[in-house]
Amino acid sequence: MTNPTAEGNTPYHTLTISHIREEVPGVKTFSFTGGESLPYKAGQYLTLVHHSPHGEVRRSYSITSSPALQEPLTIGVKRIENGLFSRMLVDNARVGDKVKTTGTAGLFTLPDDTALYQQVFFLAAGSGITPIFSLLKTLLHTQHHLSAVLLYSNSSPEKAMFIGPLQQLAQEFPDRLHIEFIYSNSPDLSRARLHKDLLHHYLHTLAKAPIEQQLFYLCGPDNYMRLMSFALRQIGIPESNIRKEIFNTDIRKPAKLMPPDTAARAVTLYLKDKAYTFRSRYPLNLLQSARQAGIAIPYSCETGKCGSCLARVLQGQVWMSYNEVLTEKDIQKGLTLTCVGFPVGGDVELEIL
Ligand SMILES: Cc1cc2nc3c(=O)[nH]c(=O)nc-3n(C[C@H](O)[C@H](O)[C@H](O)COP(=O)(O)OP(=O)(O)OC[C@H]3O[C@@H](n4cnc5c(N)ncnc54)[C@H](O)[C@@H]3O)c2cc1C
Ligand code: FES
Repeated sequence: MTNPTAEGNTPYHTLTISHIREEVPGVKTFSFTGGESLPYKAGQYLTLVHHSPHGEVRRSYSITSSPALQEPLTIGVKRIENGLFSRMLVDNARVGDKVKTTGTAGLFTLPDDTALYQQVFFLAAGSGITPIFSLLKTLLHTQHHLSAVLLYSNSSPEKAMFIGPLQQLAQEFPDRLHIEFIYSNSPDLSRARLHKDLLHHYLHTLAKAPIEQQLFYLCGPDNYMRLMSFALRQIGIPESNIRKEIFNTDIRKPAKLMPPDTAARAVTLYLKDKAYTFRSRYPLNLLQSARQAGIAIPYSCETGKCGSCLARVLQGQVWMSYNEVLTEKDIQKGLTLTCVGFPVGGDVELEIL
């Protein structure tokens, strides 16, 4: 059972590791008991918390299980050289160990209205398959009108996670799923890496719907994401049809930009049916100001890259110094990120989502 505990006023849930599996060298999946009362959508992540002598450390890991298949809550973790959290999990965690989490979050999910689309292209590289595995299973089992293409890049077959289960899915859904495995050690150099021309070839030969009815999900290392985003835009895919999940392991914060208005502003914040008021002034962002006022609102990366600190602006204006999560459409709907958000032009009212 999930056991929410209050530390400060942050509710943590405790999960127990029930199963660990080494998928490929250096990458393990961890399944949990206690996750039954943590609702999640395919494509979301779990934020884990560790209390070190130097303070609280949070890291997000994408959920590989599907909420539609009654699978135990499972995450996939790749060991990062000199990484604090990933080594703690991959090298030291054992079945029966308990982990703390602030819960599930993320916008890398299927659209609310899937009827607008006919085909989904998933572009995954390396451990970027983790959220896509969950999305793919969920789509195939619940969205019967959608077909899917997975373009899955790895350095070699030995490094590719979930090959067996993916091949099984392709057999189970032969008319709705097509997978291309791409290996950089392939002797055929024209197919060793997913480049713009190869991507164009796949989109052209595997398309089953007009572009506006196709969706694209990208997840992989930073340079892969940059290249694929650029290639898709060059091919003519509209930004609004592209969803990205960035596993940014770079601890350097993006360059600090100054908001156009640095005056102190009153903030009214609604969090779980309670209203809080405090003042926020540059250089503190909304998240930092809330924490200074003793209000624990959700966060993970603190750099505008994960979406854990998502809020809706009910009144006023919030300026973001950085954003790799929200689309133009999201921003038009009033969504913002408190970890990079500053009130500008007057007082603001926000609802934490
Ligand atoms: C939305 C989201 C989803 C994610 N999903 C996954 C997932 O499914 N699977 C997965 O494996 N990861 C995932 N990640 C990445 C994950 O959250 C961590 O960032 C990753 O595991 C690295 O954390 P770490 O604590 O091991 O490394 P860190 O300790 O954060 O270190 C990262 C790197 O920085 C270097 N470094 C650390 N401290 C310093 C310093 N003081 N000076 C210079 N360099 C330093 C380290 O050498 C290392 O190379 C996700 C991230 C996000 C934002
Ligand atoms: S905490 Fe990650 S985007 Fe704000």
